[in-house]
Amino acid sequence: MTLFSNDVEVVEKTLGGNDLCKLTFRSEKISAALEPGNFVHIKASRDYDPLFRRAMSVHVSEGAFFSILFRTVGKGTTRLSELERGDRADIVGPLGNKFAIPASDEIAVFVAGGTGVPPLHFLARRLLENRVIPADRMTYLCGVTGAFDRWLTEDPQALGIDCRISSDDGSIGYHGFVTNLLIERLNQVDSKRVRVYSCGPEAMMREVSRICLERNVRCQLSLEGDMPCGIGTCLGCVVEVRDGAEKFRRICKDGPVFDSTEVVL
Ligand SMILES: Cc1cc2nc3c(=O)[nH]c(=O)nc-3n(C[C@H](O)[C@H](O)[C@H](O)COP(=O)(O)OP(=O)(O)OC[C@H]3O[C@@H](n4cnc5c(N)ncnc54)[C@H](O)[C@@H]3O)c2cc1C
Ligand code: FES
Repeated sequence: MTLFSNDVEVVEKTLGGNDLCKLTFRSEKISAALEPGNFVHIKASRDYDPLFRRAMSVHVSEGAFFSILFRTVGKGTTRLSELERGDRADIVGPLGNKFAIPASDEIAVFVAGGTGVPPLHFLARRLLENRVIPADRMTYLCGVTGAFDRWLTEDPQALGIDCRISSDDGSIGYHGFVTNLLIERLNQVDSKRVRVYSCGPEAMMREVSRICLERNVRCQLSLEGDMPCGIGTCLGCVVEVRDGAEKFRRICKDGPVFDSTEVVL
């Protein structure tokens, strides 16, 4: 069920350095309805500048509270970062589909790049909370540009599962792309039992998808992009699909989570 609320209270704001920001909201109804993979659509300002809402994956949903995590990169995120504790936000959600849940004998590998952390963090937490698979069968691979983005790695590291960090400049964790850590992990496990979940920059997800397709490993990608309406009517968020009658699918309505076999990145 999608809920609309123009009166969602900001209860906490945390700045993570390097323009990173986490906002926690109170809405019992939205929070209770959220599933890993869903996103919320937020009006970034009260004055219609920018006009369109911004889509944000859910980072944590707990009781009456849920949070988002983003980097200030443009107009929408700048306005969102100006929200303070006690302010009210206009939020639509939950929107979009959700991740497939692994079977109890499967192995989950999460591959996050930069601000792709939130949806995978939410999924990993839910799998742990609901004891879907044991912690020792989950691996979180978290790639950042450098140590200046260390904050992004803190929540995945606090999950209590195998968490491996990589950085492009070598200033934190493994020196190199997070996709190399994925290859290393896939070499250690039975590919038939693995499910890979990924979110991050398009180039990273393209490589994750290629690696998984090559090995016949099931993989789901959480896609991002501009999302004017968020409810499937404007066709402003389409992604090309590999086969089937339709050439494109809408990220907001048919996704944001897609099987890697389904989409062309
Ligand atoms: C389903 C979904 C979930 C999303 N979840 C998150 C999330 O959890 N956290 C998050 O930070 N963003 C997330 N996004 C992206 C978010 O909705 C915004 O598009 C993005 O943060 C930029 O918005 P803006 O208005 O600040 O920038 P715009 O004004 O729209 O863009 C300004 C400039 O920034 C560039 N830019 C846009 N996005 C990024 C980016 N991510 N990194 C670097 N440069 C960029 C643009 O190319 C442009 O040049 C999600 C998008 C979707 C569709
Ligand atoms: S944002 Fe309008 S159809 Fe997806």
